[in-house]
Amino acid sequence: MSRPELRLVLAISLDGRLAPAEGGAAQIGGRGDRQVLEEALAWADAVLLGAQTLRLHGSTCLIHRPELLEQRRAAGRRLQPLAIVVSRSGAIPAELPFFRQPLRRGLLLLATPSPPEADQAPPGFDHRWGCANWGDALAALQAAGVERLGVLGGASLAASLLAENLVDELQLTLCPRLLGGPHSWLPASAGVDLASQGGWHLREQRALEGEELLLRYRRS
Ligand SMILES: NC(=O)c1ccc[n+]([C@@H]2O[C@H](COP(=O)([O-])OP(=O)(O)OC[C@H]3O[C@@H](n4cnc5c(N)ncnc54)[C@H](OP(=O)(O)O)[C@@H]3O)[C@@H](O)[C@H]2O)c1
Repeated sequence: MSRPELRLVLAISLDGRLAPAEGGAAQIGGRGDRQVLEEALAWADAVLLGAQTLRLHGSTCLIHRPELLEQRRAAGRRLQPLAIVVSRSGAIPAELPFFRQPLRRGLLLLATPSPPEADQAPPGFDHRWGCANWGDALAALQAAGVERLGVLGGASLAASLLAENLVDELQLTLCPRLLGGPHSWLPASAGVDLASQGGWHLREQRALEGEELLLRYRRS
């Protein structure tokens, strides 16, 4: 594969929402989801975060489980995956707790007219990329050593990758709640041409704590 492998990782309600009707910083998943989220982080060399998710939550998820940290240490990998914020504006508030988390940070400015705008972003990023499109961005990340890329949402980031058929695996935690409202994990407004895309094969199903269910599907 001439780009990193992409795994989209989301916690969703039974009615397919990734946030409650009122929006804001969503906490859909419980302990079961936390477990498989950390497993996905342990798999990843880097993760992508939509800038709005970061602005709402202030920080990103870390691997805490000792056995997962030990596996990464034993494999000579950094303890936490590189956390890459995806943005057009570069408007990432410098005071976010994210900038004090014990990890390496990247900023990916996508579809900006002039990539040097990255210089206007806060100084807490270890890596910066300015790319015209996803093809260039994924090539740049691979050149930087990223072979396994987790995509942690939100919906507009996920939709932009799905629209270009770039997601290889879906890792969904189905959480036993109904949320209603407009925040589907693949919004109708995303303009994704689903008809042109193939189906998905079930790779794993696992009952989790709290009556949550892990579903992993691989692109056909
Ligand atoms: N349940 C879950 O697992 C889960 C996971 C993550 C998030 N969430 C929830 O999802 C909601 C946020 O989702 P969202 O869809 O509003 O926002 P989002 O996808 O997190 O972030 C959107 C922002 O990311 C940047 N962006 C996204 N795609 C881009 C692209 N292709 N090119 C350039 N920049 C791009 C832009 O940043 P700029 O504005 O800086 O230009 C855009 O405004 C929150 O409620 C959050 O809690 C839930």
